[in-house]
Amino acid sequence: MTKATETASRRRVLAGLAAGAAAGFLPARFAIGQQAKVKLGLMLPYTGTYAALGKNIDEAFRLALAEKGGRLGGREVEYVVLDDESDPAKGAENANKLVSRDKVDVLIGTVHSGVAMAMVKVATDNDSLLIIPNAGADAATGPACAPNIFRTSFSNWQPGFAMGKVAAARGQKRAVAVSWDYAAGHESINGFKEGFAAGGGKVENELLLPFPQVEFQAILTQIAALKPELVYTFFAGGGAVKFVKDYAAAGLGNSVPLVGAGFLTDGTLAAQGAAAQGLETTLHYADGLDLPKDKAFRAAFKKAANREADVYAVQGYDTGQLLVAGLAAVKGEVTARKELIAAMEKAEIDSPRGKFTLSKAHNPVQDIYLRKVQGLENRYVSVAAKALADPARGCKMV
Ligand code: BEZ
Repeated sequence: MTKATETASRRRVLAGLAAGAAAGFLPARFAIGQQAKVKLGLMLPYTGTYAALGKNIDEAFRLALAEKGGRLGGREVEYVVLDDESDPAKGAENANKLVSRDKVDVLIGTVHSGVAMAMVKVATDNDSLLIIPNAGADAATGPACAPNIFRTSFSNWQPGFAMGKVAAARGQKRAVAVSWDYAAGHESINGFKEGFAAGGGKVENELLLPFPQVEFQAILTQIAALKPELVYTFFAGGGAVKFVKDYAAAGLGNSVPLVGAGFLTDGTLAAQGAAAQGLETTLHYADGLDLPKDKAFRAAFKKAANREADVYAVQGYDTGQLLVAGLAAVKGEVTARKELIAAMEKAEIDSPRGKFTLSKAHNPVQDIYLRKVQGLENRYVSVAAKALADPARGCKMV
């Protein structure tokens, strides 16, 4: 460091300390001559069937911070990045590495519900601040909810419930549900069942296969034999690409309508091609929302990442926006925990999906859209469920 930059750096530190003192906060970590950085632990899948999802969350998160000068509450940011491989068996060990070894100030992750629940446990045990940028595990904002756990995406119940309502309103009565045999699949199906049953519909069969297997032939044969009025699915990433293609190749596309939580066709359309055309899904994001924030975000993401945004990018971006809002309120002082949490709780996020707030359980209260695939887009059709809040069953903060 030159004399000039050292002096400037000292000045910044002193200004930061004065601001912190004025706001009544004590400094978190302070090294002489250097302002401590806010350390962020990004635990996401960078390999495997959910790799593209993790990558989009990561890049859009960084974009949200870059738009604010790359700082949080005036402090520089340092990233520690860890590939969780969507492997629940390694979830606790990986999260512990970030918390205990790397001593991150904020834990951010992940995509897979099983891995996310391991992170929730580690965050609860260590009282670490955790923001979940995708995984929908109902329990994270249900029985396991806690003041230090936030989610900027959705609960698995939300899109499923909305699709159930849509199908029932169409007078459909007999469905088969297909998914991977893990929390996200079960909970998405349960949400669908609840919405469907409220309108007189019934899921007659649930066909499951282990995550992340993609050998769908036996399931497709069963669907053909069962002849339901529709099939509801939860698949995402590489598995969603394969399922949609196999479903069409089996000739089911013309006889049994396939619907699902919108992950089935988000970020996947280029790879699914003709097989996805016309598919209807429900999600908290859609193409053609006609919101200035969405247009600006899409252009910025395209410029930064050189590819189109999808729902995962939106969620990563909003995770950044939530953290920006929280740390601005405490001037970067992550140890001012009560004030930081209060600021995050009351933030209104101007999201590309539309503005949203967080429920008492820290999950987005948001519109769920019905979308239909047209070309390379999940075109907005209608609002399937307005300002839908997860029921947060079992959450003691509600
Ligand atoms: C989940 O495991 O919760 C999940 C994974 C991918 C997309 C959506 C949800």
